[in-house]
Amino acid sequence: MDNSIQVISKYALEGLDVQALHNEALAAKQTLESGTGLGNDFLGWLHLPSSIDEQQLQALEQTAGILRQECEYVITIGIGGSYLGAKAIIEALSDHFAAYKSGNGPKVLFAGSNIGEDYLYDLMDLVRGHKFGIIVISKSGTTTEPGIAFRIFKDMLEKQEGKQFAQRNIVAVTDARRGALRNLATQEGYATYVIPDDVGGRFSVLTPVGLLPIAVAGFDIRALVAGAVEMEKDGDEQVLNYAIARNALYQNGKKIEILANFTPRLHFLAEWWKQLYGESEGKGHKGIFPASVDFTTDLHSMGQMIQDGERTLFETVLSVGDQQHEVLIPSDEADLDGLNYLAGKNVDYVNKMAELGTRLAHVDGGVPNLLITIPTVNERYLGQLIYFFEKACGVSGYMLGVNPFDQPGVEAYKKNMFALLEKPGYEEATAAIKARF
Ligand code: PA5
Repeated sequence: MDNSIQVISKYALEGLDVQALHNEALAAKQTLESGTGLGNDFLGWLHLPSSIDEQQLQALEQTAGILRQECEYVITIGIGGSYLGAKAIIEALSDHFAAYKSGNGPKVLFAGSNIGEDYLYDLMDLVRGHKFGIIVISKSGTTTEPGIAFRIFKDMLEKQEGKQFAQRNIVAVTDARRGALRNLATQEGYATYVIPDDVGGRFSVLTPVGLLPIAVAGFDIRALVAGAVEMEKDGDEQVLNYAIARNALYQNGKKIEILANFTPRLHFLAEWWKQLYGESEGKGHKGIFPASVDFTTDLHSMGQMIQDGERTLFETVLSVGDQQHEVLIPSDEADLDGLNYLAGKNVDYVNKMAELGTRLAHVDGGVPNLLITIPTVNERYLGQLIYFFEKACGVSGYMLGVNPFDQPGVEAYKKNMFALLEKPGYEEATAAIKARF
């Protein structure tokens, strides 16, 4: 495949013997592809890109078209895997200041990914008096955060624009049969899309969970899917390189992986990546802790710790070839700021030198450095990256010896929260937790 993702481990694996891991990675890939490993009922994402057909894309584009035509704002409600993928891709492709500029189509906003009262108040304040639509996304259909947000915005929309407008401009993305959201959508007659049974939340960005909000934001979901198909067909070498490198480093005491970018638009891609790897690998008291930094910003806050703190880190730099636009540094006759040595250079040249200089400094400080390169940020390469990270996660999780496709640990806080909220059915847990006060 020309011009696509490359994983470069030149500064990561010096002195490490990775031959045995190569065989382990091949075995893990075989386990994944043959569907014989743990969690094999959640492998629907593996051949998802190539199974998306014209009919599905057209339906999504049509629904997106209605929302784009009728609404000034579209509130996408969801959390975790039902939020981060869409947020990551929309942020990566958007004008950084889109919120302050008028543009074509509605602004896509997010709710239900926190329980911040002021957040919800401010969002209600923003959409009051404006036509807005809602995409509510929940696979289980019972998650508390999006449930509360949906109840609030559904009520507001019905009161503000009437039942008919609300019915036309609320779309539910949920399980085919089960859950409160499925029942509610059927009862209210909302348009719905299905999250397949065999695709877990954090692997669902290429289902309507991600594709619908991305299409509503005006981006090319066909190119995104086409990029993912390229990786599905041709990406295994890079997938193996990444899975081998990170497991080799983990086995050599590097317990924390920092995903670093020098491209502000990739901030939420790192947030999506953290969920993908954290929720997939953190089990049985094992797993690489996924962290992220935005450089050069965080070099002025976290740089000291990375350069010189506890040596349990490795760094994976997500490096972007070309920017979309050029900004030149002007010359100044007086040169009072001493920056004339950069006059005529473009800003990204400086950023690239910062990137190289940082990588070398961190390697010298004992932080192995993996490099993942993409030619530029567009739908095609983001599609490639999504599939690349997903497949590498499956291979890597099997190499680690965990089930990468479940998340039993996320239930613990919910049980306590429901007990404290005195949710019906939690009476015993409520008594037990009160006894701990
Ligand atoms: O990856 C996951 O499974 C989770 O992050 C879920 O996506 C998240 O908890 C939201 O769940 P649901 O879509 O059921 O509301």
